[in-house]
Amino acid sequence: MRRNIVAGNWKMNLGFEEADDLVNLIAEKLDEVETETTVIVCPPYPYLELTSDLAQESNFFAGAQNVSSFDNGAYTGEVSAQMLASMNIDYCIVGHSERRKYFHETNQEISTKVVKLLESGISPIFCCGEALEERESEKHFDVVKTQIVESLFNLTGEEILDVIIAYEPVWAIGTGKTATGAQAQEMHAYIRSLLTEKYGKEVSEEISILYGGSCNPKNAKELFANKDVDGGLIGGASLKADDFLAIITSF
Ligand code: PGA
Repeated sequence: MRRNIVAGNWKMNLGFEEADDLVNLIAEKLDEVETETTVIVCPPYPYLELTSDLAQESNFFAGAQNVSSFDNGAYTGEVSAQMLASMNIDYCIVGHSERRKYFHETNQEISTKVVKLLESGISPIFCCGEALEERESEKHFDVVKTQIVESLFNLTGEEILDVIIAYEPVWAIGTGKTATGAQAQEMHAYIRSLLTEKYGKEVSEEISILYGGSCNPKNAKELFANKDVDGGLIGGASLKADDFLAIITSF
């Protein structure tokens, strides 16, 4: 169902005590604000239990940053969708550009991960987005279209309703260089038009599309004011409770 969502992607940051402090601080601060926004906290795997336990009694949900494309079994170092589900994890980021770049994830592998998550009742936060040279050569729409078509369009209209899409231009991630509200809106509207073409308007209007890439308390309002921007996937700024809360209340 379409709603405003802010998800924090902690990436590979923080020691256990820092993670414990941060997630508790977020829970406390969320208790003090009135917000309709769905808040998701995605820590590294070792801190998921702590996060999901606290999420049960707080106004946020726990999410993972990655999942295996395999089922349970002899896959050393992997974590399956079923394991995440057994720990009450409701969301999981898939296809982040860092995983595409450093771990060579392909659209096909990401598609498999999306299916595994949906089979386990976990909502995928599916990331897509173009690199700088792709935008400069005006290939950004084609790149995002291919990512979406190859990783999501095998799903039924019912299945895709459980997917959250995050548009994250690679040139904006961790760089301090944010897309303008107009650039974000243009791509989000394009993504929604692809969804409409494939699944119809009723379905496409029900899917939340988040923006990610150097989103912070200063630019969140301008980004979220656009009609097809339903929130954000936040990296750096999600590591500071005050900044994260300021973004959550930017709608
Ligand atoms: P950033 O990261 O906010 O630090 O740019 C966003 C992301 O990679 O999800």
